[in-house]
Amino acid sequence: MAIKILGISGSLRKQSFNLSALKAARQLVPADATLDIYDIAGLPLFNQDEEQNPTPKVKDFKASIRAADAILFAVPEYNYSIAGVLKNAIDVASRPYGDSAWAGKPAAVMGASVGVLGTSRAQYHLRQCFVFLNMQPVQQPEVLIRECATEEAARAETSRPVRVHAGPADAELVLQRAREKFPEARPQIISDNGPQFVAKDFKEFLRQWQTTHVLTSPHYPQSNGKLERYHRTLKEQAIRPKTPLTLEDARRVVGEFVEHYNTVRLHSALGYVTPKDRLEGRHTEIYATRDRKLEAAREARRQRRANPEFSL
Ligand SMILES: Cc1cc2nc3c(=O)[nH]c(=O)nc-3n(C[C@H](O)[C@H](O)[C@H](O)COP(=O)(O)O)c2cc1C
Repeated sequence: MAIKILGISGSLRKQSFNLSALKAARQLVPADATLDIYDIAGLPLFNQDEEQNPTPKVKDFKASIRAADAILFAVPEYNYSIAGVLKNAIDVASRPYGDSAWAGKPAAVMGASVGVLGTSRAQYHLRQCFVFLNMQPVQQPEVLIRECATEEAARAETSRPVRVHAGPADAELVLQRAREKFPEARPQIISDNGPQFVAKDFKEFLRQWQTTHVLTSPHYPQSNGKLERYHRTLKEQAIRPKTPLTLEDARRVVGEFVEHYNTVRLHSALGYVTPKDRLEGRHTEIYATRDRKLEAAREARRQRRANPEFSL
């Protein structure tokens, strides 16, 4: 009989990296196992006054856990611990006392975060819960998926192309790294957007990350100018305009160069003709044409000198 694994992601985010990790795991389970992903969205906030009156969602959640042979948790790390929604789900299914759905279940843990430690802190907090829940944790492997980011950001990590659209995950990646490197510092976001409308989500983001937003324009045109000059220098000098991102790209860029080098660019060593013209034997004809033109120009000058009115 197939082993039934229940996958639980601790993130409700649609584009969650942890949900993606579970989906990837679902494709990798052996033939004699299945992995169903349970969506914990919709579970009520745990209230001990209500624990004897479980909602249909709570009943369904507990039944799904009981029907599974093992649990696979995918844990995001929030403020160095497990996400509140996951802890809430664990609490909900652990009650009422004596009727926990978790007891005795084997549990494996993995986690994905934008930070460099890949949810290790959250995972050890979760493992602590397993003790009282009397779950049977799989100790190894430890699966720490670190420095996640959007597809573009991930590409930037390997090939550093110019990113046109940076999303919230990119901002989180930068802030999380800054925090880990300088735990005492309070990061500031400096932008030159001007005093326009600041979206509610962005304000919330700033609050969550305990950061401040500083506008450089229009009140600080000097620093704004410096920022823009910096961006220009960065683009001109650091981010090469033709950085190939794929093999096809590289072939195209090199192909264009070779084409230009062979057919357009003049070479002093070849008497200022293109390699193509030289190889195909057109150089003598080109030299002769050039000599004829030079001679015609010389003749025109002679004429002008001999007859100054003519040159007017
Ligand atoms: C409230 C909050 C706190 C966070 N704290 C951490 C943290 O302590 N460590 C970390 O690596 N990432 C932290 N992050 C960034 C998460 O790693 C990032 O949001 C990640 O995408 C969450 O997983 P998900 O993609 O499955 O939603 C935090 C994010 C939020 C919203």
